[in-house]
Order: sequence, then C-alpha cells, then structure tokens
Amino acid sequence: MKIHVHFSPLPLEELFFTGKTTVVIDVLRATSTILTALDNGAKEIIPVNSVEFAMKVSVNSFGGHTLIAGERNTRKIEGFQLGNSPLEYTKEAVSGKSIILFTTNGSKAVVRAKFSETMLICSFLNIASVAGYICSLNKDVEILCSGRTGNFCIEDTICAGMLIDEIIKNNGENVELMNDSSNASLLLSRNYSNDISGTLRNSEHGKLLVDNGFEEDIDYCARLNELDILTVFNNGTIKILKFQ
Ligand code: MLT
Repeated sequence: MKIHVHFSPLPLEELFFTGKTTVVIDVLRATSTILTALDNGAKEIIPVNSVEFAMKVSVNSFGGHTLIAGERNTRKIEGFQLGNSPLEYTKEAVSGKSIILFTTNGSKAVVRAKFSETMLICSFLNIASVAGYICSLNKDVEILCSGRTGNFCIEDTICAGMLIDEIIKNNGENVELMNDSSNASLLLSRNYSNDISGTLRNSEHGKLLVDNGFEEDIDYCARLNELDILTVFNNGTIKILKFQ
C-alpha cells in the first residue's frame, strides 16, 4: 500500500483525486466537528467551499431539518445557526438534521477531494476506525491535511503520522511511504503523540482558539479514538458508513 501525505490541498487540482482513496484531516476543528455531528445523529453533512454557496444551498432546503453552520476566523458566521465548535453539535442540536458546513480550511479540503473514489473523514477522534478500514481496502492512500490557508500545520500532520503508524501496525511490510511529507508526518507523530492536547495548545491554530474562548474544544479534539465512526462521501454529502 502506497501512502502520500499532502500538507495542504491548495497545490492539488480537484481532478488529482479522481479514483483515489483519500483521507481528509482537519483536527482543529472541521473534521472533529463533522465526526461529532454524525455520531450525535446528524443525517448528513454538506460541505461547501464558500459562504455564498452555503446560503444558496440553504435556500433550497426545507425548514427545520437543515442547519447552516460554520466559522470565519473561528467564530460563528452571522445568520448561521451553528459555529464550528464540536461541542455545539449535541444530540439535541443536530439529531436528524442535514448540516451545510463552511469552514476556512476543512470544508474546502473536503470539496477539493470530491472526485475521490472513497473519501474518509479523520481526526484524532477516529484514527483507529479509519486505519482499520484502510487496511481492509488495501488500496493506495492520499492523506490530505487541510493545513492553514495553504500552509503546513502541526496538528493535522501529527494526526496523519499517527494514522500511518496505526496502518503500519495492522499492515506492516505492505506499507510504502511515498513522499517526504509522509516520512516527516510519521517522525513528528512519534515525537508528539504522548501529549496531543499540549501539542494542540501550542499550535498556531490552538493558540488562536484559546484566545477566542474555545479552549475546551482543544481538549475534546485531542481525545484519541473517542469515536468508533467511519464516514462516506457521496453526491456532495458526508454520511456514516456502516462497516463491520
Ligand atoms: C478550518 O476549517 O480552518 C477550521 O475548522 C477552523 C476552526 O477552528 O473553526
């Protein structure tokens, strides 16, 4: 199994993903939020890459069954019903709802990878589930970190490295790391995985979240394998994938 890691979606064309198996990561906080929403009973997440498109999609949706959600500079967008804090996505708030989601990096990364044959959503919350599924597929994998506006970010990279480590544990000799980014992710993750929460706090984005009052989100997003959940992206929506 050949594994590539990408530190940002920006250099990659949408068509690059055609036919690929892709894992999208945005630890702080979009993929942690998506997984939490689905685990708490949301019907589906509809990721979008602009606020304007989020508004357009919401016009065609029906009353109370659809929520429009997302952030700008970490804060809820005016007129939206939810922000991007995973802690907002409780059962009471999201059960049975379709959620249109716009975020600065994460939802855009998902949209960029939309032509993937299989796209999985990953964060620290579900690394073990994603690794198990990838091993069962036994196909080459593109791990797409959402990064920070085109740049490397440490939290997505460490999550990518820990995912690789978990795949290696399951699949051993069959794993080939194909680019420097995949080797670097693995090395970094082996250095930092014993203090995920501290690493998130010290990251650029973690500091911004603390400054903006979202410190609790960091502890939540740092929880390793809290959720046994897999997702599938199909026809523009992310849903739970039932897999034994
Ligand atoms: C993003 O997509 O950049 C993030 O999820 C931002 C955030 O922390 O809300």
